[in-house]
Amino acid sequence: GLYARRGEVQAARAAAAVGVPFSLSTVGICSLAEVQAASGKNAWFQLYMLRNREAVQGLLQQALANGCDTLLFTVDLPVAGIRRRDIRNGMLDPGWRGRLAKASQLARRPGWLLNVGIRGKPHHFGSLTDQVADPNDLRAFKAWLDAQFDPCVTWDDIRWLRQQWPGRLVLKGILEPDDALQALDCGADGIVLSNHGGRQLDGVSSTIRQLQAVVEALDGRLPILLDGGIRSGVDILKALALGAQGVMIGRPWAWALAAGGEAAVAQLLASLQCELAVAMALCGVKSLAAIDGGLLAPDQRG
Ligand SMILES: Cc1cc2nc3c(=O)[nH]c(=O)nc-3n(C[C@H](O)[C@H](O)[C@H](O)COP(=O)(O)O)c2cc1C
Repeated sequence: GLYARRGEVQAARAAAAVGVPFSLSTVGICSLAEVQAASGKNAWFQLYMLRNREAVQGLLQQALANGCDTLLFTVDLPVAGIRRRDIRNGMLDPGWRGRLAKASQLARRPGWLLNVGIRGKPHHFGSLTDQVADPNDLRAFKAWLDAQFDPCVTWDDIRWLRQQWPGRLVLKGILEPDDALQALDCGADGIVLSNHGGRQLDGVSSTIRQLQAVVEALDGRLPILLDGGIRSGVDILKALALGAQGVMIGRPWAWALAAGGEAAVAQLLASLQCELAVAMALCGVKSLAAIDGGLLAPDQRG
């Protein structure tokens, strides 16, 4: 919702048009109801655990009431990583320096200011507005949220979540084979092999490097989606060849959205589809099911 006017709605529409689910963040600007209404109930909901478990139950009820069948529960953000650019650009600074930095950025981008900053309001965290007394007070909202992120989540909390959520539960942020097995043990329906786009801990392994070990540990008992660095159809082919059932993208759709809204996200998805189809043709495979490790050079098989 900050990249483009009511941005999540635009991206969800582009995804729905090609039959791809869109995942709405707990801290998305648009509410799940707004996104679902625009996209024909195509969205998944991504959940961060909040200390207030009643608030979590409220979010799950909202998700169910809005026809959402899949919950992505993110497990790799017990605390926020250190994002130096957000310190430099003033985003995390509530003082005068931060305000000055933001004001000068706004002054240099009048198009964004009018289109997104003014006409794209409200800029609340749409799914959380019931939780705070005055959602217009962004600083109070952020303080509430910072205090609510729960750094103490254990596998028992995930078992609790499993009991609360009747739909598909997918754990996002698994990177190690033993955690994948724990996810299976907790009754998850799938995992997203993810390192949060490398935004949490610098130096952590790439997801593609971890994929084969996780595939071997799970041995077909849970579907595996992979994200992190997927930038082309060839990247998708490689992930499928190494044993993922599918991939997700983060920054590519956000950048496309910022550059050209719904149409640009649609174009991005079409490019990925086209690149995947060309790569499959050049590898001599006719279906996704026929993609396997035999397509990769020996040194790429892990
Ligand atoms: C600006 C930004 C915001 C993000 N917000 C969330 C979020 O709210 N919840 C979440 O589970 N992951 C979040 N992520 C991580 C993505 O869901 C995803 O794991 C990651 O971006 C994938 O890597 P990629 O950007 O290389 O495709 C965010 C990533 C970016 C770049």
